[in-house]
Amino acid sequence: MNRREFLQDATVLGATLGLAPGVSASARSVASKSSATPGTRLKVGVIGCGNVSGSYIPDMLSSPYIEIVSACDIIVERAQQRAQQFNIPNVYPHVDAMLAGAKFDLLVNLTSMPSHYPVNKKGLEAKVNVWTEKPMALSVRQGKELLALAKKQGVGFWPAPTVVTSPQFRFMAETIASGKLGSITAAHGTYGHSGPTWSEWFFQKGGGCLFDLGVYNVATLSGLLGPVKEVVGMTRIVTPTREINGKTIQVTADDNTMLIMDHGKGVLSHVQCGFVYPGDDLPAEIRKMSSVDLVGTKGTMHLLGYDWGPVGVGVTTESTPLEVTCTDPGPYKWQYGASYIAECLATGKKSLITAEHGFHFLEVMLACHESQRTGRRIKVESTFAWPIFGG
Ligand SMILES: NC(=O)c1ccc[n+]([C@@H]2O[C@H](COP(=O)([O-])OP(=O)(O)OC[C@H]3O[C@@H](n4cnc5c(N)ncnc54)[C@H](O)[C@@H]3O)[C@@H](O)[C@H]2O)c1
Repeated sequence: MNRREFLQDATVLGATLGLAPGVSASARSVASKSSATPGTRLKVGVIGCGNVSGSYIPDMLSSPYIEIVSACDIIVERAQQRAQQFNIPNVYPHVDAMLAGAKFDLLVNLTSMPSHYPVNKKGLEAKVNVWTEKPMALSVRQGKELLALAKKQGVGFWPAPTVVTSPQFRFMAETIASGKLGSITAAHGTYGHSGPTWSEWFFQKGGGCLFDLGVYNVATLSGLLGPVKEVVGMTRIVTPTREINGKTIQVTADDNTMLIMDHGKGVLSHVQCGFVYPGDDLPAEIRKMSSVDLVGTKGTMHLLGYDWGPVGVGVTTESTPLEVTCTDPGPYKWQYGASYIAECLATGKKSLITAEHGFHFLEVMLACHESQRTGRRIKVESTFAWPIFGG
């Protein structure tokens, strides 16, 4: 049965929503609490109607598994504008009003970073599934609380980014597992541009280039090389003031960051990120150069393009020159996290994105900031199910 036939078969979809074999305990309980009935789509509430909602909402509307029922923003005009633009029936100015209003199954949290934790907590307390933009929270204590709360409430909780779901990530994980490159010893990830121009919070405490940009590389490298044991980091503020929307603001969060990670068994990697790199208008040829490089005892591997938008993988071994492969992105998109999760909930497909991994890379990033504050290397306690592929 192809995807279209599957969707047209309301009986199958209905059965799947309740009882799909192989569905995790939390997704099963989510499905049983879902208001979705056979043949219907998962109801979604979107909170945070700023910049990124303009990419997320069209993607969600293209999903056969989603119906967006509500839009919410503390700047209510933004929610009204998205509602009008995309035909969303309900608009709210506050998370409490949204959760008390039209029923939905999945809360999609696209708010600014300092609002992630309180909004995620409200959603989980209300027993709805939550997809959140990164990072899930701003401290280890908050992250642990959210994971425990999701478990207690029997609902699902998943944080961006989606990098581990790309075909290129899978190809790299399987190539590492095959032993073709020998033992991986070292790796590097980089992501930077000149900084967002539309909101102040990116440059203030609770924001910063590591949470906004480096997070993709930390998710990719921990996903490929395994849980991080120890971190050393340095962060800097290179540009002390910025002009945002015609206003001069003080920069209080990192805009130039270096992070070194120890994955155990001698494997080291590092991430560099910044809001002090050339702007997003880099020539296409430069953008296609590798942003993640892995070195093994018998070869190297290079992710072409950014890990949030990969365009291929280059592999070299002792006996073969550079070969570029895996150039098809398939259905992968950086902004399809909510659609991906809705599909997992509807069909029982196991999500490659997990709360445990999200909490782990949050702890790694917080350890980088702690290392900067204290001048020490910091141990990381959390872990997650690994390898993601090829185990
Ligand atoms: N913009 C992008 O290209 C992009 C890409 C990937 C990920 N992200 C992530 O998406 C999130 C949002 O980014 P953005 O660029 O859209 O930011 P933004 O500042 O443009 O939008 C955030 C919106 O959230 C609203 N908001 C804040 N707190 C709220 C609360 N408690 N309740 C309701 N609404 C609230 C704000 O009023 C604002 O409209 C961030 O975590 C960011 O890192 C953004």
